[in-house]
Amino acid sequence: MFCSGMCLNFQNSTKIILNTHEKTIYISRHIFLLISALRPASPQLGKNSVQEVLNAMTLEEKVDLLVGAGMPGFGGPTVGQTENLVPGAAGTTKAIPRLGIPAIVLADGPAGIRISPTRQNDTQTFYATAFPIATLIASSWNLELAENIGKAMGKEALEYGADVLLAPALNLHRHPLNGRNFEYYSEDPIISGKMTAAAVNGIQSNGVGTSIKHFAANNQESLRSKNDVRIKNRTLRELYLKGFEIAVKESSPWTVMSSYNKINGTYTSESRELLTTVLRDEWKFDGIVMTDWFGGTNIVKQVHAGNDLLMPGIKPQKDAILQNVKDGKLDVKDVDVNVRRILDLILKTPRFKKYPYSNKPDLKAHALIAREAAAEGMILLKNEKLTLPISSETKIAAFGVTSYDFISGGTGSGDVNEAYIISLMDGLSAFSVERKLAEKYSVYVGDYKEKNKPDPNNPMAAFLNKPRMPELELSESEIGEYAKSTDMAIITIGRNSGEFEDRKTTNDFYLSDEEQNLISKVAKAYHSKGKKVVVILNVGGVIETASWKEKPDAILLAWQAGQEGGNSVADILSGKVGPSGKLTMSFPNDLKDVASNNNFPIDIELNFQEMMGGGPPNSAQEPRKNLEFTTYEEDLHVGYRDYITNKKQVSFPFGFGLSYTSFDFRNSKISGDSKVGFTLKVTVKNTGKAKGKEIVQIYRSNLNKDPDRELISFGKTKELAPGEVQILTFKINSEDFSIFDESINAWVTKAGNYHLLIGKSVSDIILTENVEIKEKFERRVIARF
Ligand code: BGC
Repeated sequence: MFCSGMCLNFQNSTKIILNTHEKTIYISRHIFLLISALRPASPQLGKNSVQEVLNAMTLEEKVDLLVGAGMPGFGGPTVGQTENLVPGAAGTTKAIPRLGIPAIVLADGPAGIRISPTRQNDTQTFYATAFPIATLIASSWNLELAENIGKAMGKEALEYGADVLLAPALNLHRHPLNGRNFEYYSEDPIISGKMTAAAVNGIQSNGVGTSIKHFAANNQESLRSKNDVRIKNRTLRELYLKGFEIAVKESSPWTVMSSYNKINGTYTSESRELLTTVLRDEWKFDGIVMTDWFGGTNIVKQVHAGNDLLMPGIKPQKDAILQNVKDGKLDVKDVDVNVRRILDLILKTPRFKKYPYSNKPDLKAHALIAREAAAEGMILLKNEKLTLPISSETKIAAFGVTSYDFISGGTGSGDVNEAYIISLMDGLSAFSVERKLAEKYSVYVGDYKEKNKPDPNNPMAAFLNKPRMPELELSESEIGEYAKSTDMAIITIGRNSGEFEDRKTTNDFYLSDEEQNLISKVAKAYHSKGKKVVVILNVGGVIETASWKEKPDAILLAWQAGQEGGNSVADILSGKVGPSGKLTMSFPNDLKDVASNNNFPIDIELNFQEMMGGGPPNSAQEPRKNLEFTTYEEDLHVGYRDYITNKKQVSFPFGFGLSYTSFDFRNSKISGDSKVGFTLKVTVKNTGKAKGKEIVQIYRSNLNKDPDRELISFGKTKELAPGEVQILTFKINSEDFSIFDESINAWVTKAGNYHLLIGKSVSDIILTENVEIKEKFERRVIARF
């Protein structure tokens, strides 16, 4: 008789759970010590092989490893929160000390590590850097920048004791109103995949892991944990899986997070096709898959699918796995495969390696990285008659409540507990600012916040988006006074969103009446005095701009720029940094132009229970369109793929962004052939008077013109001085022209002549090169959906 099961000291006796029969008996402490001394030592992770450790595990211990350590106090799909090890992290696995297996810590998220900033009985604070949102990072089109932010985020995760950062997130911006678009990069899969790979490489260079999420096609928040995405294989492969494929192949993330939704009737966390055939067999992913928090319903299917870890982990899941193994409904071999992978992951973690984390990351250095990155991802949408940059003598009147309450990032798990937020007003301290107006706004904003505090009795309140603060009513004569006493007006328009809810049309995508009035009144007053007006968009996603964009002289899309946002805006306004960001999504003229608009939950109000993923089971009522299921009728016509192909006018096209200088593209040269691959060189010259960086976008033109144009590569110059030239080089191969042929389940490039379109945006093509593909390219895949 050996205690190879779980042993617990119990006063004078010791509770022993036997390995084979799982019976509990009590023996005296002395006998226990004698037996312990006689029995062979248990294998230890790291000292013995993973196989030996696995062989020594009881079924109960194995299941302990597959099911996370739990999340007290919550009962539905929600933002992760643990008090174990690193308070405020999203969750942990369970430790098995007998075998030397530590618990590891998983923490959100895409804009920096989310942990509790304070702890009970501890005077130290644990604030983290709020980096800019992913959409802003992508807008820089700078992969090195994405990697550097990753390095800083990863370092912070490491120093705060986390093992895996639950980031980056790369679902596509299928529709402008997805509540979580701010956490994602783009409407284009190439940008999304490349940005993700850069971020993963940066984060993981610290020896902590990542979890790329949410795999896959999680493109709406409304009823996200029941939503069935009905989609064609080609669309899935070319748009919604493509970014993940690039990321897995170019960066080897330690983990992947499966999504809440179903694809063609099967929960992604229960789909062996997705998690094993596609991810592991086709793409050679060798890490673990974890569920999103409380995701999926059928435990047997999840384990069999290769969804190794169930997070945050609840007792019924553990019981279900044990019971199903005992009943022969779940093969213990499936359990073993997943356990082995989790052990492999744990072996790599800082916690296993006993990394002495400091709890003191270099927040100052990281704030600087956040500030510089944020300025590079901001996009100048309009700049009539060189309204910007402005000199420090310019006297500014700042309108709009958001000027005084800057939004650093979105809500939910993508939020960060930062020590401070630099608002626009803080950032503008280098300029001369109209104080009377500032005072009036500050009092209004302060009062509003005092009266609208989150409900302390609702544990979810901190994670939900708050209603937008109404604008302060200002009379025309009052605005006229400020137009007299100042040189320029800045109006900030703010928007926020986050998990559980998609954005709404009224007062969100469309400006509210008060906002429209504010822009009209301020523009009228300032223009009547020959003075300029700048609108700053402090938003996490696309808003309507067509109806008002003629009114201001300049528009700066500042996004949600992290904790240093106000400073980054000031750096652009002053010209310290030349704007060089470009859109990674289109700004449509109107929602009715969005091809997926009929197949997206527009303005659907769900009750709290349903928002949290509860409510009646699917079978209790007719499945509702755009809730229980969403049909991706638009197929490939997402964003610019649709606007360009169907020649729809947009307010600002994909890839668009202005600069304080101008650039010329010249001397494009293509060499190589379809066998060895092509090399494209493009010369970029700064032809203007200011320093600046430029982005070169390479689109392919498809043989059948549907979609007409698709991004295949991009590059960004260093900062070029006026007159300076740089040659950018692009590697292009036959596969870059492939489309997914459902009839043979393969990626195929037909032989023929293709065009490469070299542009400043999708609709501003400067140069064209011809490419001849001599032999047909074909890459077969295994899975079908
Ligand atoms: C989100 C995930 C997040 C997890 C843990 C879920 O609600 O969808 O993105 O990582 O919570 O906080």
